[in-house]
Amino acid sequence: MTAATHTTTTLGTPTGNAAPLLPVVGHDTLVPLVDGRQVAYSNLDVAASAPALESVAERVAETLPLYASVHRGAGYLSQVSTALYEASRRAIGEFVGARDDDLTLVTRNTTDSLNLLAGCVPTDPDTGAAGRVLVLDVEHHANLLPWQRDTDATVLTGAASVAGTLAQVRDELAAAVAENRPYALLAVTGASNVTGESLPLAELVATAHEHGARIVLDGAQLVPHRRISLADTGVDYLAFSGHKTYAPYGAGALVGRRDWLDAGTPYLAGGGAVRRVRADRTDWHDGPARHEAGSPNVIGAVALAAACEALAALDPAEVRAHEGALRGRLVDGLEAIDRVSVVRVWADAVDPVGVVTFTVAGYDPGLVAAYLSAEHGIGVRDGRFCAHPLLGRLGFDAGAVRASVGVGTAGEEVDRLVAAVRALVTDGPQARYDVVDGLWVVVDDPRPVPEGSGLAGLLATAAAGYLADVAGCLPDDV
Ligand code: ALA
Repeated sequence: MTAATHTTTTLGTPTGNAAPLLPVVGHDTLVPLVDGRQVAYSNLDVAASAPALESVAERVAETLPLYASVHRGAGYLSQVSTALYEASRRAIGEFVGARDDDLTLVTRNTTDSLNLLAGCVPTDPDTGAAGRVLVLDVEHHANLLPWQRDTDATVLTGAASVAGTLAQVRDELAAAVAENRPYALLAVTGASNVTGESLPLAELVATAHEHGARIVLDGAQLVPHRRISLADTGVDYLAFSGHKTYAPYGAGALVGRRDWLDAGTPYLAGGGAVRRVRADRTDWHDGPARHEAGSPNVIGAVALAAACEALAALDPAEVRAHEGALRGRLVDGLEAIDRVSVVRVWADAVDPVGVVTFTVAGYDPGLVAAYLSAEHGIGVRDGRFCAHPLLGRLGFDAGAVRASVGVGTAGEEVDRLVAAVRALVTDGPQARYDVVDGLWVVVDDPRPVPEGSGLAGLLATAAAGYLADVAGCLPDDV
């Protein structure tokens, strides 16, 4: 099995729009099933973490011999690494259409980016009160909690924001933004991490700007799937993650207007963020350095830039067609199965990205996900997807199952998932499952520790059933 290694292989035989558009690392990784067989892993959880593009992994391998300290060293390779880091920053900004005066900050991920921005929303100039931020209740916690904690946030929970139409949402937001006490910022999702659906962006940008507010887009689920330009859309800030954009090397980005970022609270206090430090006073940098204290993640930035380059080289219409075809095949296949329901938020949403959430009546979502892994080698996510208000409003406090596809997904993988869910409904699971510390696991799981993963050396008992060891390690808000 090739659990911890990968080989660079050619893609499978193209079958219309169902062949992957780009090769990803790990598409040939074998995983064990409870019946003793091994199958190629089907990663239908790219909305959580997408595999690295092969071109990204190759760029990282080329860069590692050049790697040295960034921004600080006089050595030749330090200068090379600094140039690589700054060139990557430019490439990341260009990929999302940064305006000339925008800043591109290299962060850890979308959550990091939005927390950073929350420290930069200006206070009221007259009263000094925290800046006001308007956010919908459909958001991922990353685009909810920073505003609730660090700003004066209003969470719009009107009935129209869920199970209504986009026109209702737009009107509700417009009415809220127009109230007398002005908002500084409207924070919205680029594409829902639960349903893949998007809001009417152009109208929201116009509404926000008309009332003197700025708009930040949580691009975590949008950027890997659709081209977006800050310059073309007028969006003020965009946050996104490398690990969802086929560059899982620890970097993300916040791109947007300079003035708030230059005046905002430095995100991390430490070396690199300051011009001069005295015992009683510190002069902070402006520009990206202000928020990037500590040694920057040059490899992460290089990887993210490489992913941006690879995605930019694709025809956006081809990406839309590929993912639309996979999504359509998935939704149609699932909806044809008795007891399966696909979750939607807005009846009139158009062009959703490849994120599909569903339930199987009579089966706990955690059991469905454990079954798909143990009996079919398919990885999906279950739970409440760090979107508790939305799942609660939809009536799924017990969670649901989510499958997601991207440029590295083949049509065959979608068919495998649909067939597996159909077999569950028809025949039930073949193995025995139980809940251990809140996690569904196979009883007496016979699957071995993956060879070459290093796990055998790390685990006290490197024997069958090791998956049960992860039970209890999960956060409560998944
Ligand atoms: N934010 C990621 C998701 O929605 C982890 O799955």
